Amino acid sequence: MTGGGRGIGRAIALRFAEAGARVFVNFFVNREAAEKTARDIELRGGSAHLVQADLKEPAEIKRLIAEVGRVAGQLDVLVSNAASGVLKEGLELSAKQWDWVLSTNARPLLLLSQDAARLMTAGGRIIALSSLGSQRVIPGYAAVGVSKAALEALSRYLAVEFGAKGITVNAVSGGAVATDVWHMIPDGQQALEAIRARTPGNTLVTPEAIADVVFFLASPAAQFIQGQVLAVDGGYSLLA
Ligand SMILES: NC(=O)c1ccc[n+]([C@@H]2O[C@H](COP(=O)([O-])OP(=O)(O)OC[C@H]3O[C@@H](n4cnc5c(N)ncnc54)[C@H](OP(=O)(O)O)[C@@H]3O)[C@@H](O)[C@H]2O)c1
Repeated sequence: MTGGGRGIGRAIALRFAEAGARVFVNFFVNREAAEKTARDIELRGGSAHLVQADLKEPAEIKRLIAEVGRVAGQLDVLVSNAASGVLKEGLELSAKQWDWVLSTNARPLLLLSQDAARLMTAGGRIIALSSLGSQRVIPGYAAVGVSKAALEALSRYLAVEFGAKGITVNAVSGGAVATDVWHMIPDGQQALEAIRARTPGNTLVTPEAIADVVFFLASPAAQFIQGQVLAVDGGYSLLA
């Protein structure tokens, strides 16, 4: 579970904890939040292991998966959730910013999957968190949108490669969810309110709703869902 200390990642970690899972919670800098999530995992009947790692760094991904192997010996579900971004129009993006976003948001799915492959057997699940910016143009979202497009395309390639091993690879594309990230966006709260008002059900998607879908994709019932991107946005993206 990457980026499991806060936001949507935390909700996913807690959803698996309710089913008694042993959850490896990766975090980057917010140790306090991750420690709280670990305590809450235990309160819900799961067991938690915290692993700090900067996923931009390939060596840290190696260390993260090696830690899972050392402690658990196997991995049933890999959730690639961590993300960050640079809010800029495409024409303003520097090469450094582009590389930073792509290596934070897209490359970890590749490297995590390569290492996780050795710990996964038939029935294994890989689930990545994506967003609407992979397909639609959202102002200031050029780098993140492209990173999510890469993530979705990579899910399809990995789905075919992992399919032979009985492992599924899918992505969940969430609508706007009121997490910390919206406090960092200028006028984020107004933007959230506008998205809520435009969503057919007049309600924002919750972290728990995303977590439920991730949990479903990890279940045996989702065995034949392979290489798909599931939109969980309350119908927001249907409207022209
Ligand atoms: N919120 C939305 O509206 C929304 C909508 C659609 C899709 N999504 C997707 O859902 C996922 C979670 O979003 P969120 O809103 O919950 O995000 P968030 O609140 O901003 O949290 C981001 C998480 O990613 C971790 N992270 C960031 N950079 C990292 C790095 N270099 N190495 C390791 N971990 C790193 C953070 O760790 P620390 O806690 O240590 O900082 C944190 O746990 C993302 O993939 C996002 O794109 C979100």
